[in-house]
Parts: sequence; C-alpha cells; structure tokens
Amino acid sequence: MLDISEDGRTWVLSGPASSYAVHVTDRDELLHLHWGPRIGLADAEALAVRPLPDYWPFESPLDGREDYPVEGGPRFVRPALSLRTGERRGTEWAYQGHDTEAGELRLRFRDGDLAVTLHYRMRDDVIERRVTLENHGPAVEVLRADSATWTLPDRDSWRLSQLHGRWGAESRLERSLLTHGEKVIGSRRGHTSHQHLPWVALDTDATEERGEVYGCALGWSGSWRIAVAQLPDARVQITGGAGYDDSGLLTLGTGESYTTPVFAGLWSDGGFGGASRAWHAYQRTHVVPDADQDRPVLFNSWEATEFDISEEQQRALAERAAAMGVELFVVDDGWFGTRTSDRAGLGDWTPNPDRFPGGLGPLADHVHGLGMQFGIWVEPEMVNPDSDLYRAHPDWVQYQPGRKRTEFRNQLVLNLAREDVQEYLWEQLDGLLSSAPIDYVKWDFNRCFSDAGWPEDPYPQRLWVDHVRALYALLDRLRAAHPGVAFESCSGGGGRIDLGVLSRTDQVWTSDNTDPLDRLAIQHGFSQIHPARVMAAWVTDSPNAMLNHRASSLRFRFVSAMAGVLGVGGDLTKWTEGELAEARDWVELYKEIRPVVQRGDLYRLRAPEGGLSSVQYVLGDETVVLAWLQAQRYGEPVPALRLRGLDPSATYECLKTGEVHRGAVLLHHGLRVGLRGDLDATIVRLKRK
Ligand code: DGJ
Repeated sequence: MLDISEDGRTWVLSGPASSYAVHVTDRDELLHLHWGPRIGLADAEALAVRPLPDYWPFESPLDGREDYPVEGGPRFVRPALSLRTGERRGTEWAYQGHDTEAGELRLRFRDGDLAVTLHYRMRDDVIERRVTLENHGPAVEVLRADSATWTLPDRDSWRLSQLHGRWGAESRLERSLLTHGEKVIGSRRGHTSHQHLPWVALDTDATEERGEVYGCALGWSGSWRIAVAQLPDARVQITGGAGYDDSGLLTLGTGESYTTPVFAGLWSDGGFGGASRAWHAYQRTHVVPDADQDRPVLFNSWEATEFDISEEQQRALAERAAAMGVELFVVDDGWFGTRTSDRAGLGDWTPNPDRFPGGLGPLADHVHGLGMQFGIWVEPEMVNPDSDLYRAHPDWVQYQPGRKRTEFRNQLVLNLAREDVQEYLWEQLDGLLSSAPIDYVKWDFNRCFSDAGWPEDPYPQRLWVDHVRALYALLDRLRAAHPGVAFESCSGGGGRIDLGVLSRTDQVWTSDNTDPLDRLAIQHGFSQIHPARVMAAWVTDSPNAMLNHRASSLRFRFVSAMAGVLGVGGDLTKWTEGELAEARDWVELYKEIRPVVQRGDLYRLRAPEGGLSSVQYVLGDETVVLAWLQAQRYGEPVPALRLRGLDPSATYECLKTGEVHRGAVLLHHGLRVGLRGDLDATIVRLKRK
C-alpha cells in the first residue's frame, strides 16, 4: 500500500505490519522519515515538518537524515552515490517528480545530463530498494553506486548481527554491540564469499521471539560491501551495494544506464525468529523460483567417488540410492573433458569418452529407469590451463598484461564480460542440456577473482559487474530454454548464497562441511535469513572424511540433514545392509515431514552453542520438532523444549506414539525428548487433533 501527500512530496509505503516513509523538501533534499511499525500519512507529514537539528558548523543537519546521501554538498556521512566527470565530482540533484508502476514507487532526480531514479517496492514487510542511473551527456565515472542507505531511529545503543565464516565454516552468527564509527563487511573476491553473507540485522534488546529487529540483505553475487555506521548523534545508517571499493565500478557513456542490485530491508517486532520467518516467507513467495514445489531427496557422488568416476560405478551407486528412496541422482565433478583431477578439463564440457563412451545418455536413462531424476555438476565460469578451451583462447581469462596469472585450485577465471565467452558458455551448456535427459545442474565456482583485468577495456573496468550480470543472464537464458531443469548454486560450499542468485536457482549448497555437528551451527546461521527450502544438506560417511574424522550415528547425521533439503552423499557401496535399511526408513520419514520442513514456519527453540539444540517447523495443523544433543553431562536429563506457534487451547497427537499433548502445556512447560549420551538426535511429529 502506498500513501502520497497532496503536494506529492511525502510517501508512505506500508506492508501488513510496517511502514516506510520519505519526504522531498522544497530544497530537493530526500529525507528519511520513518521505518518501523505502521504509521499513517498524517504521521509522516508530522515527521516531515519537524525541524532538522540546529547544529554547530562542524555537523551537518542532513547527516543521518537523508534516504540516499550523495557525495558533495553539506554532508560528511558515507555517500551512497559517488560520481566523477572530466570536470567535477559529486551530485547536486533537482527533484523531477515521482511515478508508480506495478506497486513500485519511483522518485526521479536529475543532475544536468544524469537522471537518478530511486526505486521502492514493499513486498509483505520487505522493502526492495535499488537505483537507476541514466546518462544523457558525456561519460560519467561511477565510482560508487550503492543500492540503498537504510536509516534507523535514534536509540541509546544498537547491537549488530552478522554471518561470518570461511570455507567449511560458513554462515556463523555473531552478535556485537555497535560502537561509534563504521563496521564494514563485504567481499572483494568477485563472488558473494564464504567470509560474510550479505546480510546484517540490528536490534537494541531483541530476544529470539520478542523485540524490534531491522534486517538488510543484498541481492548480488559479486563483490559487495555493507557499511553499518553509528553516527555521532545516536543514528545508524546502513549503506550497501555492488563492489567493495570506491575506486570505480564502471563508466557510463552517453545513452548508457546502470541499475543497481536490490538491497532489501525488513522491520519486525517478532524478535530474531519473527524476522527470520518474515525473510523466509518473502523468499519463498517473491524470490526463489517455484518455491511452492518441494525439493527432491538427492544423492551426490562427490564425497563417495571424488574424481575417480566411471559409468559402471555411478550405476552401482544409483541402484543403491534408488533402493533407499532417493529421487534425484547427481554426478558431481569428473565426468567431462580430461578431468581426472583438479588439474585439467575445466572448460571442456563434453563427457569424457573413456569414462562415458556413449555420452551421459545411457547413465541418465539408467537413472530415470530407476525412477530418479538425473543431475550433473558444472563450473562454467572457470578454465584449467590444461584444457582445450584455454589452449584455443588463452585471452578469454581475466588477466593483467605482463603480470602472473594466479592459479587457485589450478584454475583461472573466464572473463564473462566478453560476449564471445558468454556465447561459448551458452552454446556449451545449452548443447549439454539438450544432449541427454538432464534434470538438475549443480553450478559450482571454486576460486575467487585475483588478477581481474581486461586489457582491451579501459578503467574503470566493467568486468566485476558484468561478470555477475553475464552469469545471471546465462542462468536466465538456460532456465527459459530448459524449463524442466533445476539449478543449485554452489561455490566450494556456501561461497555464493545471496538473494540475487536465489532468484534464479532452486537451492544452494550450504557448506562443504558435512559433519552433522558442525552443520548445526552453520544451519543456525543460515536460517537467520534463508529458508530450509533452499538449504541443501547431505548425510555422508562416518567418520567424516572431508573435515574432521568425527564419528556419528546414522540417526544423528540424518536428523541434522533433515532440517533442510535432504541429500545423501556417502559411499553407498560401503554401507552395510543394516545401514542401507535404516537410511531407507529415514528417507521415508523425511518425505512425510518434507512439506512442513520446506514450507513451514521455522522456530529456533534452542541455539547450538549449548549441549541441546532444537528447531521446530509449523505448517497448518502439523508440527515437526528436530532436536540434537551434543553431549549429556552428569547424567542430567535434557530440559523440555518449549514449543512455539501452537494453539494453547488445542491438543496435539504424537504421530509415532499416539500420546496426546495439550497445546498450553507444550507452549509453557515444554515437550520432553528422551535424548541420552553423546550426539543423540530425535524427531517428534505432532498433529493437531
Ligand atoms: C566444491 C563443491 O562444494 C563440492 O561439493 C564439489 O562439487 C567439488 N567442488 C567438486 O570439485
């Protein structure tokens, strides 16, 4: 809903629970008025006429009050927009008017030949913001063009939540008090990165289920930056967008335009849990394609066979996976070119003739014959120097002339800003998806940008931005041409997870760390922003071969992975008949609880730091509780789990035991789960009677 004042200079966007208001003064300053609980137009108008603080000359009255501070003029805060022409820097705009289209508000400004349009769209309680620059004059260097600046109200002190990590340890939640100055997170790696997810949340005194929480998440899969500034006068501003530095994003020639990625913001007064549920609902409804369709249980070959792949061995794995109830069989790295190790083959997207003499068709048919879908792994943005592609086109990679080409994992990054590279990848991938009945593509990205350069393109080079735009365009084109194919975003585990890639992929690979205990913390962080519907999790072998050699029961591994999109990734040819039979039962149970896990509301009952952790999903009359005990101490019984989201006046039946529980008792006194010893886990299913 959008309310506009009579003079057309004050706007209030409202969702079911929140409002966002801005105002253009008669000096054409764009002031932020409100973000928080719902208000009316009269409230916004009252805020609009409040005088700005009367500061001494060392402060600017505009700082901390503008909705999109540009560089130049009486401002000292971090500018969201920084432009340079041959003559001058900064922006001095004049307000041109507003328009609305399909629920989006657009505020139009102009600085000489440059048009600046600010976009606002309220979806449920998430505001999507972005900016378009259109240049009608001589070239303009865009040093920085952030998607939005978010302004929080004056409060005594703020706390910042962020998700940090590294390879094998992504999405770990960290909370700290915000102090004066700036906290900057981001990626200068060319992809979203394992180090930070592009999300922050701010609160003053929220708990898991109570209190105000402001959250912001960026929809961009390249380098990015979010700066959270505690200003001198109790205000906080969060500015974010594509690119890490201010050293130049791109040049806009005459007639060219640039639209930033979306920076989305959410206000919730339901605590961290309420904010997460709102983010999840938003992504399932507005971001993730086909999110109303549940994701199948998959098998992935990576941990089982790594590069040592043969058709016969994949058939044997497929037969065991099918018998277990798996619905999608994915052949990971090693099926193409001369890819028998990570030293060769990337770039040559045709099946290895020694390993798959008849191409992928016979294996795909076999997998389909077993009643499963068939998927493959690709890493299209990369090339090994030992590949036919690199031998033919050494200049297709990112490089700086006269400098070494840094090889991480023996590979180089293709320059996707080049049209010939874009066309090559389209032809290869379209041909591949047409050559065999392929239902699923795991799209990987296994090194960061390091020598990103493009000798033919003058600085500032567009390749950082254009790489991501080309990736998105390729995914969009492939999805349109092959509508039955689902895509997974992977980047050495969770190195490319953001709202941008999620708007064109069906699920993401959360982490290469498949240890079921470590995963609980990773999944806890992931769930702050993203829904279980996209969070892929595999049950692999014990002891965990990839990370830490920790031994755990099949029960613990399954219950951990069943909190997301369940997959199996162990070497099934080595599993005993007993293990295979147990796994079949877990897969069957997962299929029963899947709609509740993938589409339900998530309540985090206990965080993983303690010995006992638990999540609950609620969908309609059904509730599923997953609980994990790391280690029982002193023989003490584990505490009862106070459930959420239930009707206190209703009764709930345990689908396994038939025991009937009263809603009020579950909510106030809790559910007893009989966990014992080390690394124990359980699932409780309740249905309203
Ligand atoms: C990194 C991924 O995260 C793994 O799952 C696997 O696909 C390897 N790459 C293959 O090279």
